[in-house]
Amino acid sequence: MPKTQQQEALSYFRSHADDWKDKGLSAGQQEVNIIRQRNGFVLEVLKHRETTNSALDVGCGTGDLVCDIARLGIESTGIDFAEEMINLARAKAEQASLENARFHCCSIFGYDLPERRYDAISANGFIEYISLPELDEFLKLAHHALNPGGSLVFGSRNRLFNLLSLNAFTDEEISGGNATLLLREAIVLASGTSLTELEEIETAPIQSDSTKHSHTGIDVSTRYQFTPIQLTKMLKHHGFMLEQIYPVHIHGVPTSFKSRHPEVHTGISNLLQEYAGDSHCLVPYSSSFMLHAKR
Ligand SMILES: C[S@@+](CC[C@H](N)C(=O)[O-])C[C@H]1O[C@@H](n2cnc3c(N)ncnc32)[C@H](O)[C@@H]1O
Repeated sequence: MPKTQQQEALSYFRSHADDWKDKGLSAGQQEVNIIRQRNGFVLEVLKHRETTNSALDVGCGTGDLVCDIARLGIESTGIDFAEEMINLARAKAEQASLENARFHCCSIFGYDLPERRYDAISANGFIEYISLPELDEFLKLAHHALNPGGSLVFGSRNRLFNLLSLNAFTDEEISGGNATLLLREAIVLASGTSLTELEEIETAPIQSDSTKHSHTGIDVSTRYQFTPIQLTKMLKHHGFMLEQIYPVHIHGVPTSFKSRHPEVHTGISNLLQEYAGDSHCLVPYSSSFMLHAKR
């Protein structure tokens, strides 16, 4: 029997924990470090909250973010279903003597999340590995486990970027008949429309579970992409209010040029990233994005 998406993800991440271990470490300006950008955004959100006593990171991988949150003096918990990831995460926290960093090895869907337990929940690089019903369940669980006013911060691969990658992903959107609606959403975001107006905007249909995803370098055959407004609507449905959309890995050149001159892409991308905090107009140019919403 073929493996389900979650089974495929589990075996991929169990056997790639060692490769993941150092991915979040700084490579300076020599590369675009997506994990650092995502973790940095979560930390900024936490620093700007009035009070945060406890935080949960879902799909925590090797625990860098959990440890960084613990360093802020917050009681910090990480959950991941890949045992090899959790073993590395525990070793990192122990080495840094972080007694307020804890880890659980289990699926978020099998974890007994207490009601109103956390001030913040993060999930970076997680929702692409779960089905649409599981995403619905995740948002329900997050709402249940957050305190009122609590922050949900999570990342997504950006389907709007398919318009500007100018490659097979773009062709797929044109042949699926979705390019126009995606372009309209990109225009709305680029024009800097206020966040409260976004949920009224029509979006392209959500990718179906039979969508064939082009190969992305991670050996899991289904890795969903969403647009920011698709997720904004789901958040609203679950009782969240959108606070911020944050572009991650911004592109200033087509992907074909990036392959030939990676150093030029890196320079432009890291420069643009400095403007990411207050520029959701850059989201159509970013291959991923983060959302911050409050319960
Ligand atoms: C792409 S990695 C991201 C790791 C880390 N958050 C980061 O940004 O570097 C996705 C992680 O999610 C974990 N994961 C996927 N589905 C999960 C589930 N249902 N429950 C817990 N962890 C899960 C995987 O084991 C993997 O470590």
